[in-house]
Amino acid sequence: MNRNIALLGSTGSIGKNTLEVIKNNSDKLKIVSLACGNNLDLIRSQIREFTPEVVSVNLKNDRDKLRSDFPQIKIYSGEEGIMEAAMANNVDTVVTATSGTHSIHATLESIRKGKRICLANKETLVTAGELVNQYLDKSDSELIPIDSEQSAIFQCLCENDRKFLNRVILTASGGPFFKLNKEEFVNIGIDDALNHPVWSMGKKITIDSSTMMNKALEIIEAFYLFNLDIDQIDLLIHPQSIIHSMVEFSDNSIIAQMGIPDMKIPIQYSLSYPERFNSSTERLDLAKTSNLEFYAPDSEKFPSIRMAYEVIEDKKNSGLIFNASNEVAVESFLNGEISFPGIYYVVENMLDKCKKYPVKSSEDISPMIEEVEQLTAEFIKENISKME
Ligand SMILES: NC(=O)c1ccc[n+]([C@@H]2O[C@H](COP(=O)([O-])OP(=O)(O)OC[C@H]3O[C@@H](n4cnc5c(N)ncnc54)[C@H](OP(=O)(O)O)[C@@H]3O)[C@@H](O)[C@H]2O)c1
Repeated sequence: MNRNIALLGSTGSIGKNTLEVIKNNSDKLKIVSLACGNNLDLIRSQIREFTPEVVSVNLKNDRDKLRSDFPQIKIYSGEEGIMEAAMANNVDTVVTATSGTHSIHATLESIRKGKRICLANKETLVTAGELVNQYLDKSDSELIPIDSEQSAIFQCLCENDRKFLNRVILTASGGPFFKLNKEEFVNIGIDDALNHPVWSMGKKITIDSSTMMNKALEIIEAFYLFNLDIDQIDLLIHPQSIIHSMVEFSDNSIIAQMGIPDMKIPIQYSLSYPERFNSSTERLDLAKTSNLEFYAPDSEKFPSIRMAYEVIEDKKNSGLIFNASNEVAVESFLNGEISFPGIYYVVENMLDKCKKYPVKSSEDISPMIEEVEQLTAEFIKENISKME
């Protein structure tokens, strides 16, 4: 089995891990194209090491610099560039590991063209879950999750008939503030929120883990990814992140997927599925993992969890509003403008205030996101005194 890969988001945390996996399996996996944002130094060294045919960066200015450095390579910029990277010659597998919603159009087009999508980007299904599923229904494309929790559920479901499924149980580390009193949330600083106890990840997803917005995104993502009913999605706090998620069947038997917390494992599985390649990652030694803890989630303390179920209930563009307003709120928190609980205040208000209508086509997505981002920025400006 050989794969020709477009890696969208090559300079990020998932992107770098994906390149490690590709390097370790270079007889089977080949990079055809790379897309990134603004990290020119890193993309230059990735180009030298992986010799892609097509590269995309965020800005035109950077595109021109790279064109003069690498005249033999096709170099593009912006969302058009991400599309060029995904559509490059012979690409049969697209790893979507950009942050935000920059790669949604390229993902939809790749599904239409029947390519395998190795999906890390959570925003895709949260923003346009129904649309993605409509595209999948009409195509031979397969969507294999990278996110460790979704990969775990995917693996637990693989060998079993879906008609016997009771529920999926997503696990969550709980983030750094799981044991903190809610009253203390107002004192949480940027550095505290960026310090995740288990996973080493990009900045945005690390903040999302601390607010448990990340888990909320995963609840919504799981709903679309596995075509579940709302009452088939449960959540369990498991601080050690050894069990990546579980599935319960009609005879009350529960199947769990375990492993050390290393994203290279689910990344590799998404590329190798249905095969399994050998891995150089550390092996799980359960005898040394003496204490596995589990707790019920607290959606009073972390309202993001409650909001996720409301988003699923509402459908239409609620996921898009949830995600876009959270992105603006997180940026505002990272700029020191609003407090940690301010993030919940913003998202909750935007879910309440923004107009709800369905995402009917891919052309709807960008204008809807822009509108929500603008309304959220205005809301923050007008209410900043309530969130300092
Ligand atoms: N990290 C994890 O363990 C993990 C686990 C599960 C799911 N995910 C999901 O995977 C996605 C990526 O997460 P991450 O932690 O790898 O994020 P990250 O470290 O912040 O990396 C984001 C990547 O997206 C690129 N990017 C940003 N803006 C762009 C633009 N306008 N055009 C093209 N590329 C752009 C960045 O490029 P530059 O750096 O060059 O600007 C970088 O390559 C997110 O959706 C996240 O929720 C992550």
